[in-house]
Order: sequence, then structure tokens, then C-alpha cells
Amino acid sequence: MTDIKKIRDEYLNKLKQNLELHEVNQIKTDLFGKNGLISSQFKKINLIAEAERKDFASNLNIIKSELQDLINFKINEIGTSQINKKLDKEKIDITLPERPFILGKIHPVSQTIDEISSIFSEIGFSVEEGPDVENEYNNFTALNTPDNHPARDLHDTFYLAENKERLLRTHTSPVQIRTMLKDKPPFKIIAPGRTYRSDSDQTHSPMFHQVEGLHIDEKINMGHLKGCLNYFIKEFFEVKNIKMRFRPSHFPFTEPSAEVDIGYELKDGKIVIGEGDKWLEILGCGMVHPNVLKNVNVNSIKYQGYAFGIGIDRLAMLKYGINDLRAFFECDYRWLNHFGFDPLDVPSNYRGISR
Ligand code: PHE
Repeated sequence: MTDIKKIRDEYLNKLKQNLELHEVNQIKTDLFGKNGLISSQFKKINLIAEAERKDFASNLNIIKSELQDLINFKINEIGTSQINKKLDKEKIDITLPERPFILGKIHPVSQTIDEISSIFSEIGFSVEEGPDVENEYNNFTALNTPDNHPARDLHDTFYLAENKERLLRTHTSPVQIRTMLKDKPPFKIIAPGRTYRSDSDQTHSPMFHQVEGLHIDEKINMGHLKGCLNYFIKEFFEVKNIKMRFRPSHFPFTEPSAEVDIGYELKDGKIVIGEGDKWLEILGCGMVHPNVLKNVNVNSIKYQGYAFGIGIDRLAMLKYGINDLRAFFECDYRWLNHFGFDPLDVPSNYRGISR
């Protein structure tokens, strides 16, 4: 057998085996590289006797294409099988059961805000909102709070800029200002939202929630304020009778001002609202100061009314028997699962699985 036939047989055999891509590439170099077996045969052509040269050359060409075709075929084959393997791995198994659907809970604070809003909307209040980041004017100045008032102190207020122009609102009262500046009287609104003060212990958190109330019209007096709050507290705590007392107090933006306490007693360690002889402070209120009305261009001879600010977290704690305010904002899923509320619209694929 001639050299080239030997090479051909040997390499056709090799190429028939199960090869990796790098092995096929190695064979390709062995045969057709610069000093490859086939390449060197081509260099020999001139040395061969003339009579045999033609046959030799034509055989060599046939063998060359034979081997080359097989190599190309192998390379293609390996490529395709790699793609198929990858596709096999990435297959989506549509027979797998879906992951359990976990339904979230409504946070007690959100629930309480919803309840408060619906109680007040029953008696004609609409809901307003204001931003958490306020300016000094809306939070203090327009609310008749003097420059040297302690609430403006760095100890109480989170200022966002050196020049004290922007701050995190310390109460929801700036929404009174925003509402009266954008509309004309009468006003009858509530404004729930987040508020901030530099304070932290079992009953104080640096971020907490308030709901502001404002009712301004031509003949609104303190009797209306009392009636409104009485109605609200009874509805909120779902009791027929409520003990409520107005304690004289001071706020720069109301005159007269009062703090409101509700009566309660402890029965088996539980707070019962509306009975007993203990008192719990739940809100601040008063008749809107004429200076505030002047600051928002409302005629204070013609119009007057009341405002109040209720601590929402405190109400939620009382109603739902939660004794540490900080738990509200710790984002502990177990706590939320226990104290949270189920949403009204439960999706049809909800299977009641909770974490
Ligand atoms: N803004 C007061 C506070 O945060 C509460 C309040 C609101 C008092 C409206 C009177 C009128 O303490």
C-alpha cells in the first residue's frame, strides 16, 4: 500500500470514532497543517517520476477531499450535538406544579388609616395628602409658630438642609396650609400621613403617623369640634358610650387649644375604652388661629373653624392590642402575619398558603 493510502485508512478510522471538537481539530492540523501529513505529500509531487506523477497527484487530491469532507462533517456534527444538549438542559418542564401563591397582609397602620378615612367621609370630610418633605414655611411659619418655638429646635425636627429650608414634616398640619392655599373656603378635610420627630422609645418612633382634620366655614364652633370627635371615637372603637375630656393646652396654630383624653379601664390586662376612670391622651385640637387664616388669605372675620391632629399609631395600638410601637416598623413577617389584615379582594388562585 502506498503511503497516502495508509494515511487515508488510518485517519478515516480515527475520524469514525467518537471525538471531541479539539481532537478533530488536532487531526485537521496533523493532516493539513504546514508540515501536516497530507501537506508534505503535496510537496513530494515534483520528486516523483513523471510517469507516476499524474496518478499520484490525482489520488492525493481525491484523498485530500475525502478526509477534508469527513473532518468538516465531524465538526458540524459536534456543533449540532452541543446545541441539542444545551437545548435539552434548558427545557421547561410544564408539568411542574406552580409555586404557592403567597398573599400579603395589610399593615395595621394602613388598615387604621382606611378605617379613619371611611368614618370621616361618612360625615362629609374629603381626604387630602401632602409631601413628607416640607418647607419651613408650611410646617411652622404659616402655622403661626414663632421663630424661637422649641418645636423648631434641631432636637425635634429633622432638617434636610443647612439653611433649614427643607425638613421632614413634624406633623400633618402643613396640609391645612396647602389645602387652604389651593382652594377657597369652606374646607372640610382630613389628611392622614407620615410624620417625623427626633424621638425613639417604646411609645415614640422617629417616623409615626397622624391624621389632620380641618373644618372651616362661616359658623363652625367648638361644639361642632366636640360632636365630630365624639362621633369619630365611638365609631372607631365601636362603642356606644365614650368618656371624653378636653384638657386646656397650647398650640400656636389654634386658639383656644385642647388635648383630648378618652376614658378607659384595664380588665384582665386589656384596655377597655369608654369605661373606668383612667385617661389616655389621643389627640390635639382647637379653633384655627386667625393668624393662620390670614396667612392663607382666608377672611378670618367671615370664616372660622376647628382643626385636630390624631396620632394614628396610638389608636391602632389601642384598638388592636399592640403594646410596642416599634414593632409596627420592624418589618417582621411573623408579626405582620399575626396583626395584619386580609385584603378584601382575594385573587381566585389564592390557596391560602402563608409563610
Ligand atoms: N399638630 C399638632 C401636633 O402634632 C396637633 C394639632 C393639630 C393640634 C391641629 C391642633 C390642631 O401635636
